[in-house]
Amino acid sequence: MKSISTVVFLLLLTVFPSYTVAQKYDAFHPGAEQWLDTEGEHIQAHGGGILLHEGVYYWYGEQRGFGEMGVRCYSSTDLYNWQPHGVVLGWSDAPGTDLTRRCTVERPKVIYNEKTGKFVMWFHLELEGIGYWAARTGVAVADSPTGPFEYLRSFRPHVGKIPVNAPIENIHERKRWDEIIKNAEGDRERRIAGEIFMRDLGVGQMARDMTVFKDDDGTAYHIASSEENLTLHIAKLTDDYLNFSGEFARVQPDGRNEAPAVFKYEGKYYMIASGLTGWAPNRARSFVADSMLGPWEPLGNPCVGGANTYNDLGPDKTFGGQSTYVLPAPGYEGQGKFIAMFDIWQPGDLKKSRYMWLPLVIQDGKPVIEWAKQWKVSDFGTPDNQRGAER
Ligand code: GAL
Repeated sequence: MKSISTVVFLLLLTVFPSYTVAQKYDAFHPGAEQWLDTEGEHIQAHGGGILLHEGVYYWYGEQRGFGEMGVRCYSSTDLYNWQPHGVVLGWSDAPGTDLTRRCTVERPKVIYNEKTGKFVMWFHLELEGIGYWAARTGVAVADSPTGPFEYLRSFRPHVGKIPVNAPIENIHERKRWDEIIKNAEGDRERRIAGEIFMRDLGVGQMARDMTVFKDDDGTAYHIASSEENLTLHIAKLTDDYLNFSGEFARVQPDGRNEAPAVFKYEGKYYMIASGLTGWAPNRARSFVADSMLGPWEPLGNPCVGGANTYNDLGPDKTFGGQSTYVLPAPGYEGQGKFIAMFDIWQPGDLKKSRYMWLPLVIQDGKPVIEWAKQWKVSDFGTPDNQRGAER
């Protein structure tokens, strides 16, 4: 016999279906008003990234709202339905910490280190009360993907270090590099030559919009907008992923790339990024390279086709979104099929910002992203390894 509480529950389900159970999704709904977690709350994982660990996807991202700084984590096995694990890195009032209540933490990304068994989180940190002027990178570590993450420190990387693609051999030739910059004709040329880079040589390079990328051989890279957001710096991390190795490159000087997301296909590295217009959408860019430290070759705007049906913004405005991460589509690994994650920012109330996950395919050596109002991973079609079975 059914207990009274079960009967009441079933009755409530009939009358208020959406209030009593969180929705179960079986598709992506890019740009939809809300994406609810399994508890029925709008997901708070903005500027996020994904870690796949032992068959489970973990989504880390910014919790937004004044005075609520933190990184949240969600887990899923199907990428549509996400279980919340709360704040896995939060502010503290410990004396001397710079991870304070009203600091800004953006674009957190987590990678797993096989050698140490640790989960390492990197993020962009801005210090409380000074807007975006600190431009630091922060690192935290955990024993489990759902944390808690222990905050280690924040800093400006590469104090006194020169990049692998500098016009000089070593730091002692600094004067020669200064000469090269001085002799460049025009402001843009001077920036390209490294004017802002040399300004920050002694204090460390700026690190704002960022991501991390873990290569097949376990080498990990930190990719960040530097030099007043004008130039990307791609840096190799140490073997334990907790520090910078000192090896890095200046990429696309004065290219004004933000929101980098890196992925790999057939031995080549691809990157999509946004332009530099704050929370407002702009035209996305894509790049390809044979090595993470470059050179990176521009491939143009990866977005094509019709507009976002909610906001009427087309491929020239990234359908209203800004890139944050690209992950291989499950079941299609190595087949040039990816899921490209974007944020649709709501600057007036950032916690309401929406998510736009779209299919990305590599076509003729270029990433191509089209708007889809609703789609499933299986829409990529029969995976290559099952094609034979069809015949
Ligand atoms: C965007 C950036 C965001 C955030 C914002 C602040 O361009 O991608 O992560 O920093 O600017 O205005």
